Order: sequence, then C-alpha cells, then structure tokens
Amino acid sequence: MNQIEHFDPEDHPELEQTDFDRMTAKGISRRNFLRGGAAAMGLFLAANPLAQAVAAVTRPEPSKLMGFKAVPASTADTFVVPEGYVAKPLISWGDPILKGAPAFDASGTQNAAAQAGQFGDNTDGMSFFPLDEDRALLAVNNEYINPEYLFAHQGKQDLTADEVKKSQAAHGVSIFEIRRNAKGEWQVNRDSDHNRRITAYTPMELTGPAAGHALMKTAADPSGRKPLGTFNNCANGETPWGTYLTCEENFHKYFASAQDDVALPARDTRYGLKAGNRDYQWYRHDERFDLAKHPNEPHRFGWVVEIDPMDPTATPKKRTALGRFKHENAALTIDPSGHVVVYLGDDERGEHLYKFVSKAKYNPNNQQANRDLLEEGTLYVARFSANDGEIKGQGEWIELTHGKNGLTAENGFADQAEVLIFAREAATQVGATTMDRPEWVAVHPDNKAVFCTLTNNKNRGKEGQPVGGPNPRAKNNYGQIVRWWPHQGNHVDSRFDWDLFAMAGNPTVAEGLYAGSDNITADNMFNSPDGLGFDAAGRLWIQTDGKYSNEGEFAGMGNNQMLCADPQTGEIRRFATGPIACEITGLAFSPDQRTVFIGVQHPGEELAPSHFPGGGNSKPRSTIMVVQREDGGVIGA
Ligand code: FEO
Ligand code: CA
Ligand code: CA
Repeated sequence: MNQIEHFDPEDHPELEQTDFDRMTAKGISRRNFLRGGAAAMGLFLAANPLAQAVAAVTRPEPSKLMGFKAVPASTADTFVVPEGYVAKPLISWGDPILKGAPAFDASGTQNAAAQAGQFGDNTDGMSFFPLDEDRALLAVNNEYINPEYLFAHQGKQDLTADEVKKSQAAHGVSIFEIRRNAKGEWQVNRDSDHNRRITAYTPMELTGPAAGHALMKTAADPSGRKPLGTFNNCANGETPWGTYLTCEENFHKYFASAQDDVALPARDTRYGLKAGNRDYQWYRHDERFDLAKHPNEPHRFGWVVEIDPMDPTATPKKRTALGRFKHENAALTIDPSGHVVVYLGDDERGEHLYKFVSKAKYNPNNQQANRDLLEEGTLYVARFSANDGEIKGQGEWIELTHGKNGLTAENGFADQAEVLIFAREAATQVGATTMDRPEWVAVHPDNKAVFCTLTNNKNRGKEGQPVGGPNPRAKNNYGQIVRWWPHQGNHVDSRFDWDLFAMAGNPTVAEGLYAGSDNITADNMFNSPDGLGFDAAGRLWIQTDGKYSNEGEFAGMGNNQMLCADPQTGEIRRFATGPIACEITGLAFSPDQRTVFIGVQHPGEELAPSHFPGGGNSKPRSTIMVVQREDGGVIGA
C-alpha cells in the first residue's frame, strides 16, 4: 500500500483494493529521472526537487483488459487499425444529410445553401443516441473549416457574402440517422426526418444566470437571450436524459473589425479577442462579428450548448451556469447524492479546470423533469497542491459564486452573471491553478476516478505559470494525463487526491521527465493527448492532436493516433493511426461496444499531401470512420 500513502484511507472509503492497485502511479517512475544522469536535463532536475523524489514503481503488467495487437507508428496516408479489425468511412465533409442537398463537389465552388444541407467540416466530438437496436442518431461537432479546401481560391481572397455564409454553414453540429444493415454495417440514412444541421446562424436561447444580462444585449437582440448560432464546437458530452452537449472553444477567432484598433477591456482580451483576428472574415458580411460595432456579441459565445437530438425543431440552449471559457468537452456524471456534476476544461495555456454541480437532483424516474438541470447550479475551479517532492497530492474545488472568495463588486464582479461571463478572471481572483491546456475530461465508469488530458504548454515555466503540481515540466511539448479521486467518492466534495496517469514523452531521444513516464515506451509513444473517453468496460481511449513531423523531439511518433489504456495496470497500447496531417478526435461507441466511431479531422491540413479518404488525386476530407472487429467482438477486448 506504500504507493498510495498520500491518501488518507478515511477520505476514500469508496475505494477497494483493486482501486488502490490502480493508483500505483505506474506512470511516474524514478527510472526516467535517473536515466541519462544529469546530461540534458541536469539543470531541470537540479531545479526541480519533485523530479528527484518520486517513488520507483515497476513497469506495467500485461493488460487483461486489452486484447488487441498494437499497431506501429505510421506516416502513411491511411487509417490503420489492429489485425482483425476493419475501418470504413461513414461520412465525410460535404456529404449530403438533409433531403434535397446536393452531393459533395470537390471544386470548392458549392454555395452556402449546399453546405447548409451537407455534413460540416472538421468532425470533432460526437455522441451516439440509440433509436432502436439497428438505428441511432449521431450528433457530431463540426469544429472549424479548412479554407484551403472549402473555397476554390483556398481562402486567399476576400470572402463574398455567400462565402461567409458558407463558412458559417460548415461550422456547428450535424445530426443524422445511421442504420445497421444485415451485415452489421452502419450507414447514414440521408432521408431521415431526424437529420439536422445547426450552424453559426441557427437561433438559440441563452439560459441561466447570465441570460438577459446587460453584457449579453446587442442591437439585434435587446433581450440578451436570443443569440444566433454556435461555432468552434470542439468536444462534447451527453446527458442521461438524452441530450447532446456541444462545447464552444476558440470563439475569439471569429470576431474582428475593419477598424485596426478596437479598445477592449482586459477581461475581453483575456479570451484572445482583438480586431486583427481576420482569418475568418465573417465581419465583412455579418456585422455582428465586428467588434467595433457590437462589443457584446462575443459574450454570447464560449458556452456549453444543450441540444435535444430527437427533436429537429428544438431550440438549442446555451447553459451559462457552466461558465464561459474556451470549452473542450463536458464530462457529466451523477454524484451519489443525485446532483449532476459536469467537469469542464478550458483549453488554453495556463487556463483552468472547472466543475459544475447542479442545484437540483437528477430524477432517474422522470427524464422530462431533468431537462433543465444544467440551468442552475454552482461552478467551481480547481486548485492543486503537491506533496513535497512528489508528482501527486491533493486538490480542492473553489466556488465561483458572487460574494464569495473575493468575487465582489470591489474586485470588479457586479453580479453572478459577470462571474460566469468572465469565468477566467474569476478563476484568477480565487487562485486557481494554471494548467497545461486542459482538454477532454473522462469519468471512469465506476464513477470513482476522473481523468483529464493536459495536452501541452510551451509557456510552462514562464511568468505566472510555475512548474509544479500536475504541470511538472517546463516548456511542455508532450503533454500528460492527470487523474483525481474525489473524497469519499463524492463528486460534490470540495477535496480530491490526484496523480499523473501518464506523462507523454520520447524515450528514444529525450531524457528525464521528457522521456515520459514509465508506461511510455518506444512502441507506444505519442504527443499531445487530447480526446479522451472510457468504454463500458473501463478501457481508457486516448486521441492525439500533436506534432506529426516525426522528427526531432517527435521522432518515431508518426501521424496522430488513438491509443487504449488499462487504468489499472497503466499499460498504454496504440490502437489506430490516422492519415497525413490529421488530428484524431471524437469517439462514440455503440451500446453493444462492438462498433466505435472515430473522427479523422482535417487530413492534409494546410495543403499537406493527403488524399484521405478517397485516395488517388482526391481532395482530403474530414471523415468519421466506423471501426469493427471481423469477428464481431467487443472493441479493444
Ligand atoms: Fe478543439 Fe482543445 O481542441
Ligand atoms: Ca481537442
Ligand atoms: Ca488540441
């Protein structure tokens, strides 16, 4: 039991021996710190007592949870799965999903109306909603666009009004029906009445404490409650009452101005807003994106949006109680107390990790009664502390409620709406820990442990972002996965214990902490863990959005990839590799666990030489892959 001595057993009566075994922090080994002595990392080691004092642990035992044979790293322009598995494209950017929408045309000259009936670009987070045994809806985020493929002129010209609209139509969410045929293959049903496109101009509703606030009102919407659209929808979540959560991430990029200089308050520039963000050019033809004219419009973005996928006429609801930041995903669980808890990452260097707790309790016997649980509750932000000389320790959730913890009018927060709209500023006010870009959060199906990818952070070690705690490496190019256990197994508890499940690294070229944790080897190495999710059996699936140069500090890692981990033994095994210049992001399992849908985002980005998935000389397209086993078995087993 010595590896878990930082736990007070009284804090964790919910854990059993197998849980304790899982906490042995296989990831972080002294071997890595000693290897190579004081060579390249000498300075860092000397400056970092943590690195010298981590307990030695053994290599992971072979996993009983994972039964597939690992795939090697790849630089090929293909999607590779293990022996005995098959992967086929389900849908690609531009495929029609609404009745009457035209087929994909690779010329880049299709208009906005065509795009508005087709699958959007840059597939990202997605969820599977069963209709019956062989029919389901997939709700999928279309995060952003690749102008080099969307437009014939590759985005090198000023956009026309129709091109702005087309760009807006390629963003948002796609919802469509899929059916399983007699051979067990899933295919899109283009004629389903369920199919829907949600874009950057779909009418929405703001709900919760910030709805209707003065900072939300615009010339076009004096109510401050009726924003149009959602965009930069990164990752996702789903609720037990059958709704889809889509999370708005880098919303700042879409706001600009014809005017070079627009003076904005620091609480706005903290989100990256500035007049010169002209890549998207939406302000040219859609005035609400001009910061000089409509400074409140950006306050209506950066939220988690709840969508009822079953009703194509339902108005999506922006849930302001969950805070405004660059949301990655929304990992929802039901606490033993019955409160709904949602873990939320803010993906930016030095930003924070959040938790929402609903005011009302979940009612398992009346799903209709649950539909507004995300409208009211309490937001918290994480503060980590480390045990002396260790990369593990304790943490606490600090409440972001107006009037508490210094969130007062004297400190610039007039009311709760301001706390939520400027959640980043509130988090700083209460002393939250600056993190290495929190991406996806995933709750283990046993509901006891929570994992979060911290993808990378080149700024770690600079002013305001001290090395330490769950962010133990300066100039962190590889990323890590932090996990924590709430006290007593209660997600509403303000205290937790944490460690690192894995530190990505490159044991073939780097030393010390940069070689990675003990569960990182020459055979499974990767960088920039991002997508994250559990299957029903508790296998942890990791997707990467990293550097794919395959050179220098990334040598041997190849293209972006998907890995599988056994949380108990710590073993990590590469499951799939993507084509050239893609990111692997988005995963959804069928309830029988025999199909997994995996997103291949932006193959061939910035004109890299990919022709995925069509091959030949075709234009590369973001694509959802369907992965199954030839023997029909459970994925990963
Ligand atoms: Fe859309 Fe943080 O990735
Ligand atoms: Ca991501
Ligand atoms: Ca990322």
